[in-house]
Amino acid sequence: MHGTIHYCLEETIIHKYGKDKWGDCLEAIKLPRNYSFISHLREDIDEMLTINFILKAAEVLGISLQQLFDDFAMYWCLEYAPKLYSGFYIGCNTTKDMVLKLSKIHEMFGQIRQGALPPQFEYKELAPNKYEVTYISKRNLFDLYISLVKGLDAYFNNQTQIEKISDNKAILTFSHY
Ligand code: HEM
Repeated sequence: MHGTIHYCLEETIIHKYGKDKWGDCLEAIKLPRNYSFISHLREDIDEMLTINFILKAAEVLGISLQQLFDDFAMYWCLEYAPKLYSGFYIGCNTTKDMVLKLSKIHEMFGQIRQGALPPQFEYKELAPNKYEVTYISKRNLFDLYISLVKGLDAYFNNQTQIEKISDNKAILTFSHY
């Protein structure tokens, strides 16, 4: 997985839980306490290391995986992406605008890195404010997708209703459209 995810998780943990806890997370995956993913920001990082990193971080912090996804998603949407990827926010004023742009954004990352497998999204419009979304990825991180929609809501001050209907499908009812 793209190193930007790891670096954002690093910043999330330091921001919310402190540097010491971050050091503990690194030790749990056998990396030095002063290691940083910043130097691997644009590299592809091994999938097994990535999954191990996420699972171990939740364990070390003593929180559920869902809580870690929520923490990551809030930090990603409110701090990290607006700083690093501000260009993608241009022309987006609502959660719906951004959600419908996600296929394009992720496709772009897939094109610039060989071997990349970014998630894909399909949308079926049920009404102007209501869409059925299908998440397509071998990584099965649909719960992270849902956390990120909540993060977008926090950024745009919207209130999307999210109804998970299967392991990779949800109905999104947007408050602003
Ligand atoms: C400017 C905003 C965003 C950028 C630049 C971005 C970029 C990326 C990149 C580079 C990855 C790693 C992909 C890989 O290595 O295969 C990723 C993963 C992911 N992104 Fe985004 N993303 C953005 C916003 C979002 C939002 C708002 C959502 C959901 C509402 C989302 C859903 C996901 C998910 C679920 C993954 C995990 C990988 C997977 O499931 O296969 N992203 N994103």
